[in-house]
Amino acid sequence: MIYALTDKDKHLVKESWRLVEAGSLMETATKIFYDRLFETNPELRTLFPEDLEGQIKKLANTINFSVKALSWKLEEWNEGGIILEESDLFVIVRSLGRRHTRLYQVTAPMYQPVGNALLFALDMGLGEAFTTETKLAWTKLYVLLSNTMKMGGIMKTAEDLATQIQEEAK
Ligand code: HEM
Repeated sequence: MIYALTDKDKHLVKESWRLVEAGSLMETATKIFYDRLFETNPELRTLFPEDLEGQIKKLANTINFSVKALSWKLEEWNEGGIILEESDLFVIVRSLGRRHTRLYQVTAPMYQPVGNALLFALDMGLGEAFTTETKLAWTKLYVLLSNTMKMGGIMKTAEDLATQIQEEAK
């Protein structure tokens, strides 16, 4: 199976997300997402703030961000080149991954249950509109983002390397 997102996949993700937003399903879907995540993986509860109220917006932002990422051109996923560091989206997603590892104590195996809970919430929220094809399209997007984030989580930054070199040169 090819895991690159086709134009059709991008369209399916955007359309289904539009339905969530248009049908005011956001709050319901978010609640289903967290209920499911903490039911299947109660050990993840402590990573998140006590009050999940604010998380609703965060999850929505996260998905909006992912859906927006679908419009990025392939070249924009490339590192370096003519793209400035601040606008290099590959760098941005890696930084997001680095914050997850370093600040939020997220580990690589945690991406799986979060992905499952996301698909579950979309399925519950969208019902029949969440077709097999749409589900595959969301899966591809999640795999792309989470793999890039995991990469950011394990990579040493330029700052890390500079500090290391300076330390060793002492
Ligand atoms: C594709 C996958 C994911 C995306 C796009 C994503 C996105 C985000 C974003 C945009 C934030 C807001 C803060 C920031 O920008 O640094 C955030 C916060 C957070 N995420 Fe994720 N996330 C993903 C996967 C995960 C996973 C697998 C976990 C582990 C359970 C997780 C746990 C958290 C936690 C604990 C916070 C901070 C919550 C807080 O303290 O308010 N995320 N995420």
